[in-house]
Amino acid sequence: MTQSAAHTPPFLIEAARSRSGDDPIFALNAEAQRRGRAGEAVVNATLGALMDDQGKLAVMKSVFDALASVDPQRAAGYAPIAGERGFLDAVVGDLFGAGELARCSVAAATPGGTGALHHAIVNFLEPGQALLAPEYYWGPYKTLADHTRRKVETFRMFDGARRFDSAAFERGLEGQLRSQGRALVLLNTPCNNPTGYSLDAQEWSDVTRIVRAAARRAPVALLVDHAYAKFGAPGAERWVEHAAQIVGEALLLVAWTASKSFAQYGARVGALVAVHPDESERKRIDNALAFSCRGTWSNCNHAGQLAIGKLLSDATLRGRADAERELLRKLLDERVAAFNTAAHAARLDYPRYEGGFFVSVFAQRPEAAAAHMRDAGVFVVPIPGALRIALCSTPARDVPRLVQALAAGLAAAN
Ligand SMILES: Cc1ncc(COP(=O)(O)O)c(C=O)c1O
Repeated sequence: MTQSAAHTPPFLIEAARSRSGDDPIFALNAEAQRRGRAGEAVVNATLGALMDDQGKLAVMKSVFDALASVDPQRAAGYAPIAGERGFLDAVVGDLFGAGELARCSVAAATPGGTGALHHAIVNFLEPGQALLAPEYYWGPYKTLADHTRRKVETFRMFDGARRFDSAAFERGLEGQLRSQGRALVLLNTPCNNPTGYSLDAQEWSDVTRIVRAAARRAPVALLVDHAYAKFGAPGAERWVEHAAQIVGEALLLVAWTASKSFAQYGARVGALVAVHPDESERKRIDNALAFSCRGTWSNCNHAGQLAIGKLLSDATLRGRADAERELLRKLLDERVAAFNTAAHAARLDYPRYEGGFFVSVFAQRPEAAAAHMRDAGVFVVPIPGALRIALCSTPARDVPRLVQALAAGLAAAN
């Protein structure tokens, strides 16, 4: 092998040359684990997977039974390009039951919610245009946008009362209609990552009013990122009734995933669902999504679709999965309650938090606060304007120490 040291040709195209390879969250997690292995009692609230109180990944037995029961001859073959019919119908049923919305839905299988977001970005925005998201959003929205030559624009998420800032959303959406003549809005609710926030009935009604008004002037697609929805507070599932209000004027999209709802992060089973009353528009969307499947991953995990399809549609298996998920929810809800009690007492500044994997506490100097916390053996993720805390990986018994470290870290950094 010869090596020409002087002038390495730029093999990578310009845009790919300065990509950062490591995910900062995984780097923090690695440091927490290293210190833990060296004998320190660390609290690791960095990673977004639900862990039991012994620090092991929580799994659902029903999912493995369903996987074991799939027909090997079918599972080993390619799945249909746009996904298994039974799986897609079951996902739509999971979201909308058997009503009008289900009849107005088309769907394509995707590798998790990430794939669903990808398909939405490439099909509902032109290259160069920007998706619209609240300022607190899941980082890979930006990665997906960059990678597909789109951008991200944000609006202020919370007003002075720490409620969803509908006026800022309206201004952001109006601005996009003026600047790019269309909009794709990503709302991760219930249980937003990173803040934990779920829109309430009033906030949803503001959102639908604003979206409907905008959609009379230009094409507007509203995508509900459903990743954590099954972990919302009781009543959170009523987002569907609100979102239904936009159907026919705006396009309703849902990014559905089994990653969290079936504790099946690695199987990469998800779907993008699109809801529109017009059959020919639905057909065009269906074709476009299938084309995107072929042009990216070709087709998705067949065994996973068969198993999750079965879990959603077989009454016995579904009952078992729901019961197992309920136990996981309980575990998480104990942590949420412990956090709210301790954080209120410590007067931490954070938005309404009723359930979900994460919560964020506002911080003026998040990097400095997180560094101070790390010195005390407590790991959280600094994000612009806040510290993200993964309660999904923090046992309730560690929450008082976590909150104490948060209070101390914020005081030291501010
Ligand atoms: C807000 C949000 N959306 C979507 C996803 C997609 O996850 P997956 O691709 O595993 O379904 C995640 C995962 O962490 C997330 O936090």
